Amino acid sequence: MKKIKQSIKTCKSLKDLEQLRLSLFGKKGFFAAEFAKMKTLPNDEKKDFAQKLNADKDLYLNLLNDKKMILESIAIEKEMKENSVDVTLFNSTPTSGALHPVMQTMDKIIEYFVSMNFSIQEGPLVEDDFHNFEALNLPKYHPARDMQDTFYFEDSMLLRTHTSPVQIRTMLNETPPIRVISPGAVFRRDYDLTHTPMFHQVEGLVVDKAGVVSFANLKYILEDFLKYMFGDVKVRFRPSFFPFTEPSAEVDISCIFCKGKGCRVCSHTGWLEVLGSGVVDPNVFEAVGYKDVSGYAFGLGVERFAMLLHKIPDLRSLFEGDLRLLEQFR
Ligand code: PHE
Repeated sequence: MKKIKQSIKTCKSLKDLEQLRLSLFGKKGFFAAEFAKMKTLPNDEKKDFAQKLNADKDLYLNLLNDKKMILESIAIEKEMKENSVDVTLFNSTPTSGALHPVMQTMDKIIEYFVSMNFSIQEGPLVEDDFHNFEALNLPKYHPARDMQDTFYFEDSMLLRTHTSPVQIRTMLNETPPIRVISPGAVFRRDYDLTHTPMFHQVEGLVVDKAGVVSFANLKYILEDFLKYMFGDVKVRFRPSFFPFTEPSAEVDISCIFCKGKGCRVCSHTGWLEVLGSGVVDPNVFEAVGYKDVSGYAFGLGVERFAMLLHKIPDLRSLFEGDLRLLEQFR
């Protein structure tokens, strides 16, 4: 028995341990044979014999179980060591990029207007005073020309403050009918929760013979466009002023966050302003030498659309290049 005790102690594998268990507790094992001996013993010895045997049995069962637990945890540890993954290893799989959310929004806007037979027209980012202001009926004293709002270069060149100068360039280069949108970057001296020095606009311009294009056409297309972008929203035209349109309207949609009930985002008005628009001012047509025409124009901020579509609270986060934000737009 001492030998068996020693064997259990030095046993190195679960398989060997099982072998030892069988030799003790199996049908043909040590204890089966010992208990069989009982029959041949005189009655007065049976009790002592059985008691001693049962005590031995408990002892060996405990020894086997303890050893089993030790061998099992050694086995698990070994397995973990052999099959472990080093999570700090450099992963050489290249990750794919994605279109920036502003560009995705831009694409969706362009998609709509192209489907409505608009063509795309781009213009320079560095503009002159004439295209950005003068021809758009923004006279010399207009506050938009202020150093506070506009980035100027020397000799009256500037970074365009809106995409409206592309209206002027298009009209000077083409003859009506005109049906264009002009997407692109614009620049203003502004920086806070809802303003960045660079942002994107999409401008729209439709010009045709006098009387062909009206405010009603403008209203239809913008309503249809906003429903395409935002789904089931109410659209409202609110009288406003732009130097290059008369009459002018700002366009609101019912707040997509509170469904028009009033919340923090819509300043409890139930409405969100999303567009500027109007019928092209006669002074603009005069500046480009157009006669007997009518038209409408509109302009929108792409970042504002992206923020509303994706519920992004801070405009600046779109330009910080934080991958955690960008990865959500794969
Ligand atoms: N250019 C105007 C702006 O930047 C938007 C606009 C475009 C308004 C065309 C009316 C017509 O705010």
